Amino acid sequence: MMYCLVALFRSPMHISWEHSMASGPFTGVLRPLLLGILVLGCFVTLFVMYFKPYEGWLPGPVESVSEHVKNLISSDKNPTIVLMWLWPFGSKFDFSVCSSLFEIDNCFITADRNLYNKSHGVIIHHRDISGDLSNLPQLQRPSFQKWIWMNFESPSHSSKLSGIEKLFNLTLNYRQDANIGVPSGTIVPAEGEENFVPPSKNKLVCWMVSNWNPQHVRVKYFNELQKHVKVHAYGRAFGKHISDNDFMPTITSCKFYLSFENSVHKDYITEKLFNPLSVGTVPVVLGPTRQNYEKIIQGDAFIHVDDFSSPKDLADYLLLLDKNEEMYLRYFEWRRHFKVKKVQFPVEHACLTCDYLRKHKEYKEFNDLDKWFWGS
Ligand SMILES: *[C@@H]1O[C@H](CO)[C@@H](O)[C@H](O)[C@H]1NC(C)=O
Ligand SMILES: *[C@@H]1O[C@H](CO)[C@@H](O)[C@H](O)[C@H]1NC(C)=O
Repeated sequence: MMYCLVALFRSPMHISWEHSMASGPFTGVLRPLLLGILVLGCFVTLFVMYFKPYEGWLPGPVESVSEHVKNLISSDKNPTIVLMWLWPFGSKFDFSVCSSLFEIDNCFITADRNLYNKSHGVIIHHRDISGDLSNLPQLQRPSFQKWIWMNFESPSHSSKLSGIEKLFNLTLNYRQDANIGVPSGTIVPAEGEENFVPPSKNKLVCWMVSNWNPQHVRVKYFNELQKHVKVHAYGRAFGKHISDNDFMPTITSCKFYLSFENSVHKDYITEKLFNPLSVGTVPVVLGPTRQNYEKIIQGDAFIHVDDFSSPKDLADYLLLLDKNEEMYLRYFEWRRHFKVKKVQFPVEHACLTCDYLRKHKEYKEFNDLDKWFWGS
């Protein structure tokens, strides 16, 4: 655009210079012709810039975005509109992927608050609600609209806010009994049979911890465990930072990974389980009961700390498996027929919410959030 303006500005001078150098019958015609082409070119450029359909990289005027949205909404497709009221943890995401990534069609997920009055659902991420609730929608709620309480932290790590107990219609949570229950990952059938061989390993037991708290059950367990087996521990608490790029390769390089949850709650099973599981490392879990894990993954895909009477017993078992390749490989039998599918936070959650709203149009009240989630 700048170039276009500069060219327009400079062109007469440029052409006069050319005119003085050249001689002949054509120069008189050439000048207006060139100028004409330039003006036309600029006009076309302008047209393309301003009438290009809404796309991420173009900051584009707000009216044109709304225009696009208006067309979409008034089309006979009648999409379900879901408004992400707060960006989860303050990070932005591209939500136009429900159809392409998750085969959920006819959803329009947006963070544009101008669409509040038209939104079938409003997702509100618990962690981002301010203590005085001042950043919640203040407008009257349309009669058809449902508010969705979204939270993927455990009760121990979620602050109870007064005033939200009776605000919501639906729960979007890791718990299986949530209206929209979304685990961190799932096990899905693999495309054909595969003789899975775990990648090569140069460490026995590894652990990465970002939130080190001596009061956590997991820290107490770790302190005992490491007296009996060497644990390669990473994180601030150990002065060993792991970059994003090294994160998965490090997990892959270990035979066992301590999938220790920050707190123990029903269904609270996070990516700490699915990360090692997906790369061919055996997770050693500390969290809810073994039965709870077995609702989500195969019983022979992991080791549970509860299977042992003490951290020392667990350490002995891990050392035994280190010496016995055949026993170790049994933890990958399930990979013959299945594989891991991780859930993409928070995009997949928004798409699943849209899908739920479309299938459940009935009135819904939910008046005991505190009791349901915090148990009191
Ligand atoms: C939404 O509806 C309310 C009335 O319920 C109205 O006061 C408000 O201006 C509307 N907002 C928008 C953005 O259309
Ligand atoms: C959603 O819940 C609120 C609060 O209980 C209630 O007033 C509203 O009618 C509910 N809306 C729908 C569509 O179920």
